[in-house]
Parts: sequence; structure tokens; C-alpha cells
Amino acid sequence: MLFNSPAPLNPIDNETVVGHPHVRIDGPLKVSGQARYAYEYNDEIPNAAYGFMLGAGIATGSIQSIDTKAAESAPGVLLVLTYKNAPKQGDDGSPQLQGADIKHYDQAVAFVVAETFEQARAAARMIKIEYTKNKGAFDLGAIKNRASMPRGAADTHMGDFQKAFSTAAASVDVTYTTPDQSHSMMEPHASIAKWDGDKLTVYMAHQIIHSAQADIADTFGIPQDNVRVVSAYIGGGFGSKLVVYADPILAAMAARQLGRPVKVALTRPQIYNHTTHRAATIQRLRLGAGADGRLTAVGHQVWCGNQPGHGPENAAAQTKLLYPGDNRWIETRLSKLDLPIGAAMRAPGEAAGLLALECAMDELAEKLDIDPVELRIRNDIQYDPEVGPSRPFSTRKLVQCMQTGAERFGWSKRNPKPGQVRNGEWLVGMGVAAAIRNNPVRPSGARATIDRDGILTIETQQTDIGTGSYTILAMIGAEMLGLPVDSVRVKLGDSDFPEAAGSGGSFGANSSSTGVYYTCSALRDEIVRRSGLNASDVSFSDGSVISQGRSIRLADIAGDAGITAEERAEFGDLQKKFAQAAFGAHFAEVGVDIATGEIRVRRMLSVCAAGRIINPMTARSQCLGGMTMGIGAALMEECVVDKRYGYFVNHDLAEYQVPVHADIPDLDVVFLDEVDDQSSPIRAKGLGELGICGVGAAVANAVYNACGVRVRDYPLTMDKII
Ligand code: MOS
Repeated sequence: MLFNSPAPLNPIDNETVVGHPHVRIDGPLKVSGQARYAYEYNDEIPNAAYGFMLGAGIATGSIQSIDTKAAESAPGVLLVLTYKNAPKQGDDGSPQLQGADIKHYDQAVAFVVAETFEQARAAARMIKIEYTKNKGAFDLGAIKNRASMPRGAADTHMGDFQKAFSTAAASVDVTYTTPDQSHSMMEPHASIAKWDGDKLTVYMAHQIIHSAQADIADTFGIPQDNVRVVSAYIGGGFGSKLVVYADPILAAMAARQLGRPVKVALTRPQIYNHTTHRAATIQRLRLGAGADGRLTAVGHQVWCGNQPGHGPENAAAQTKLLYPGDNRWIETRLSKLDLPIGAAMRAPGEAAGLLALECAMDELAEKLDIDPVELRIRNDIQYDPEVGPSRPFSTRKLVQCMQTGAERFGWSKRNPKPGQVRNGEWLVGMGVAAAIRNNPVRPSGARATIDRDGILTIETQQTDIGTGSYTILAMIGAEMLGLPVDSVRVKLGDSDFPEAAGSGGSFGANSSSTGVYYTCSALRDEIVRRSGLNASDVSFSDGSVISQGRSIRLADIAGDAGITAEERAEFGDLQKKFAQAAFGAHFAEVGVDIATGEIRVRRMLSVCAAGRIINPMTARSQCLGGMTMGIGAALMEECVVDKRYGYFVNHDLAEYQVPVHADIPDLDVVFLDEVDDQSSPIRAKGLGELGICGVGAAVANAVYNACGVRVRDYPLTMDKII
């Protein structure tokens, strides 16, 4: 079904189930260890051999010699794969071990398979490799002549920026830097591969099933239908599991050769350098405004680096949409770097971009002597500033987010002059930032069956990366069929099910709910047809379909054979006609230790307007996670680049700092009442990544308000404050 005109009134609007908090239906399975992750399919796949990946010890260059003799004769070893004996694979997939060239540190250079994990790991360490090292580029800040770097994303040049900027009543010209960051999800990348003839099954951790399936099929040059991918439970994605890395490919390659299943998990250190990360940025913000605070000049230049063929951190994306201003200069430049590959991580684009833009707005507010909340309100715009009034936002409640948040947070108590509020050893400050996150949608299908017990089973490739997909899809099914949630079974993350959006870019919940909605609509139609009831006034409740006082149990209509429907949601051009985004306002209060510069976040509030909130409980958890990540981005997260050797030094969870419980204070989340008729029949919008967008800037602005030190180089560590 195509969604291409404003959502009609539909059963979801009843909000009998939808819109009410519901605990995770998969929670008991998770806390009792019954929810199995990729590496844990031991019963389905007994007798799997263990693989261990060896990663390159240089960043760029080539293998001069590789000696695997000792490894091959080590105890328990079944197979050693290197570029010398690995089969040729397709470039469209994720080929491994295809030559002597090394493009980044921890690129796979060998794969050892043995009877046990320990044997495989021990043997991998016996492999002797000599490299020829190239001189690589590892330091974005050291790249000369940034002006001539190639374009990384479309530019915006509108009006006469230079003139507007130089004649503005107030202006800022500031440069912020954000570091490389690593997803650092809990579950490592892991795969078990098994061949049955020419059919391959891979249990792995991936956010978008059909994309992994296509990638693996292309790698081995086999039909997509010959590859089954299962990611039923996923221990965090954050973008890291949008990509197929070496683990499924090496496991499948070895499994085919050995005629035996092979399992492999990347080690934690390998994850940091072998997989992708969020690339560092340098961002120059030039903002100019009239004395009334209204922006006249909006300049945002982003520089970043990546491996050839890979894109930029799209940190100017939000600047094209968030604020008005007739004169605009927005550019993204991308240079070659020989670090590991940069890719999507936790709100790619906006998360890094708002760290700069929303601090620059704070700096502008101070120059204008206008309250930072008021400055955002004065710069509201209800249409796409690059297109004009012909492309309105479907909904945009940024002003209401700001007002509600300011009221609830006690913003009026903030002293606009930095360094004035003292509480014991702490200087205390408040900061605010706006949040915006694009609202993409993706096609998404599902299959739904009602059986003779009145149980509704929903099957879809949609994944749950810890976000709550299982629960919200059960809620959608329950609402549509008039069932209690515990009469709905949800099966996810298997390529045998109808293709679905998957989890990424905040599109998962809205898109997959729409797929389940259309599927359940089709199932309702079939149930009504078989019931013989008058289709024009039926309703579904209490496990029955009801019309004009007659009530028939769904279980009875389903009979022994059950009734199944399958549908797929497609989205038309409403995304073109309307600018669609979710909005929010983040408020932070921090303390800065007057002696040590230690920063503690004391409390935070996020107010979000993201369309209909399907499940306020899991949605709130999404925001709490995002806020925690935003605090991490502001204060601690950073991959430290060894600029001599070109790798991330702090490659484990001991050294890559993320917030822990002791770092996180009371966090408050408020959802504004909103429905978006242009977004989907669910009237929801993407929420997952909104939670992180702007958070770090609110913290950084609070730090400035507390102590008067403006740090423009993230993360804001103690050494930069003192
Ligand atoms: Mo997201 S970074 O698109 O999983």
C-alpha cells in the first residue's frame, strides 16, 4: 500500500493500546538469558568450529610476506585463510582477503579456524607478517589547504552571504571540532555461518536484514534467495550494524571450505579499528543577525575525512533546515584519510552538527544580549528555509518545546552572566539547545496471521536493536485487531519474513509500524469478509469483530486453517512536499568544580515533539539513551588517534569513555501532544535519534554559563576547562 496523502482516521487513532506505556514484551526473555544473540545459536548449529580474525598491524601499505606454517600446524587448527588462498569475491559486496593491500588498521588479513576459540586465537598469533608501510594521512587538522578539499555533500549558496554577514548587527565566527567516536554498543559483531548445499544461513548482528542479505549474496556471487540472515535479538546497533564487516564473510567462506559451520565474534579492540566509527569534523560557524535577533546570515562549513568511496559526516544537514536567514553559505568538504572507515553513528550528521551550531547560537545570543531560548523562538520558521513557503514543515513545534522546557526546567532562574552562581565548590550553570532530526521513512512489509486460539502472529524482517520494536509492533497489532497485547506474538529479524525497513536513521518504528498497520488492515478486511458482517460499521474489540450488536470471535472466524495477510508499506512523495523532522529542546544544569574543572551534569530535561508516541515507555527510554550519549559526546567520548601509526589507541570500553550510571543524574523527558498526518497512517515520526541531537551543546552551553570558559573542542575534558 502506498501512503501518499494525509492519513485518514483509522483504528490506531482509538489509542486503546497505542499511546499508553507498555513494558517490553521481550524483557523477560532478555533478563532470563533466553533471548539469543548471534553468537548463541548453539542448539540450531551444533558442531560449529571457531574462527578468529587477525587484523592488519599497519594503517596503509601492503603485506610483503605472510607465514602461516606454524599456525596451520598448531593444535586444533582446521583452516587458515589469507589473501593467498581466499576465493575471489564480488566487489559489490564486502569482499575480504582479496589482496596484499592494506587500507586501514585491523583490516582482516587472516582467518584461523580451529576446534576451540582458544586454539584459533593462539594460532592466529603465530602468523608472521611483514608489511611495507605507506605514509598515511591520519590527522584531519593537519590537512593543508582545506579550501581545496573536494565536495562531500551538496552546497547551499543563497543571497549575498559575505555582505549580510559583514553588515550584521551582531555576528559570531567560531570554529568547533568534534572527534572520532565509536558506537561502543554492547554486543560485539558476531556471526555463525552454515551451508546446506548452495544455501547459506548466517546468524549475525545486523540492523537491516535485507541489506545484509544482499551484501552477503553479492560478496559470494549467489542469488539473494540463497542467503538467509537471522538477527532476532541485537545488543545495540547505534549505526555500527548497518554495515557488513569481515565476520559473516570469513565465517561463510571458511564454513563452505570446511563443510562445517563456523562462528566468529570480533574482539572488543578489533571493533574499534576494524568496524566503522563516526568521523571527526572541523566546523566553522558564521552567524549574523539583526538587533532583533533574527538571523540574516547563516554560514556553516564542515571539513572531514574518510577512506575513498565513503561519505562525510554530514554535519551541516540540520543547518539547512533549522533556522531562517536569506543569506546562506553551507558547505561540506571531504578529504582522504587513512583511518578506519567513517560511517553512520547515532544520528549521523545532526548529532555532530548540532554540537557546533547550537553552541554558536548560544554565543550569538550573548552578543545580542538576548536570552538563548528567546533567540530560538525569534528564529522559528514553519517552512524549509532553502525552498520557501511552498515546502512547509508537516509539523514543527520547536517553539512549544522551548517554552514548555523553559517553564518546567526553571529557566527564568538562570543568570545570563557566566560564573555567577556558586554552590560550595561548584560553579553552577544552565544551558539550552534546539534539537532537530530528519524524519525518513522506508518501505516495510509484514505478514500477520490470526489463528484458532485468537492469537495474532506478526512476522517481519524488522529488527529490534534494543529500541522496543517487538513491543510497539505488538501494540499496533493489538490496536488493529482489538486484542490484548499478550495475544500478539511478534517474530522479527529473519530474512524468511517479509522485507522491512530495519533499524536506522530513526525510520524503524514509524516505517515498520506502517507496514504492520497495512498488513493488519488487510487481515481485518479478510476477517470481515468471512464474517459476513456489514463492512461499513464493524469494530474490533475483546477478541471479536462486532457489527450492529452481533459479535463473532476472531478465533472462530480463523478456524483451524487460520487467516493470513501480507502487505507492504511504500511511501510516496509527501516527504518532498513537506519538510519532515522531529524537534526538541534540551535543557541542562551542570556544576563545574572550581578547583579541578571537573564537570558534573546535575539535571537534564528534554522536551520532544515527534508526532504520535506509540509507546511512551520505550520512547522515553530511547530519549534517556540519547541524552546519555549526548552527555558522553559533550564530556568524554573520543577515539584518540595515534597520528604516527593511524589507529585508535583507546580501543576498548576501559579506555573509550562512555557515561556510566554515576555520571548520569536525574533525566526528565516530556513528549508534546502531536500527530503528524503527513508522516504515516500511524502519525508518528522518527524519535530514536532525536534524543541525542543537541544534547551535547546544551551541556557545553551550561558549562560556559557556569564558569565562563567556552571550549570549542569536544569533548570538554577537565584539562580544557582549567
Ligand atoms: Mo543509525 S546511526 O542510522 O543506526
